Amino acid sequence: MFSDIPETIQKRMKDLERIDARDRMDGTTRLERLRQIPPETGKFIALLAASAPPGRYIEIGASAGYSALWLALACRQVKRKITTFEILDRKVEMARQTIEMAGVGDVVELVHADARTAIGDAVGISFCFLDAEKEIYSECYEAIVPLLVPGGILIADNAINHEETLRPMISRALADERVDALVVPIGKGELVCRKI
Ligand SMILES: C[S@@+](CC[C@H](N)C(=O)[O-])C[C@H]1O[C@@H](n2cnc3c(N)ncnc32)[C@H](O)[C@@H]1O
Repeated sequence: MFSDIPETIQKRMKDLERIDARDRMDGTTRLERLRQIPPETGKFIALLAASAPPGRYIEIGASAGYSALWLALACRQVKRKITTFEILDRKVEMARQTIEMAGVGDVVELVHADARTAIGDAVGISFCFLDAEKEIYSECYEAIVPLLVPGGILIADNAINHEETLRPMISRALADERVDALVVPIGKGELVCRKI
């Protein structure tokens, strides 16, 4: 997955990393910033996505599509597709450009919608990366866990840097008998849950 990343994907990753780093320094508003995962988190979620059982792959919170590029590598590896949801017009436009420039339209579908309504109640999710506004994490957790196939994986970003806000969901997951869960200290902290 990581030793032969196509040049088009590498280039778009580097461009988005530059934009993200610049945004964090120059006073760009929180809503406008890309707020991407760091590369090591990208590799981590790609490894887990490539290890997930067959089923639907989804991402909640595409932003400009940076994390979706890492997940595209996993999808190609295991011959699956991912649907990524994004609510903001400007981010959707950037994510569209990312998919086109990186040439990952074969494995990444972008849906311009509030994921909470667009996911629906279709069971069979085998991988979900949750990386949206922290206030909706609990709601998303409760919606996704029943839809996961056995062995299905849910990863929630920001489990350490937004630990206080996410504490209700994290406590719920760690005590939830439907999943095995752990907070992994990589990047901003990843809550990893595997459906039993
Ligand atoms: C932290 S950023 C995602 C970063 C992205 N995963 C990456 O690493 O490249 C969060 C994104 O979630 C989007 N978002 C927030 N609430 C959402 C919702 N209910 N449905 C879909 N997208 C949402 C925001 O507009 C924002 O672009």
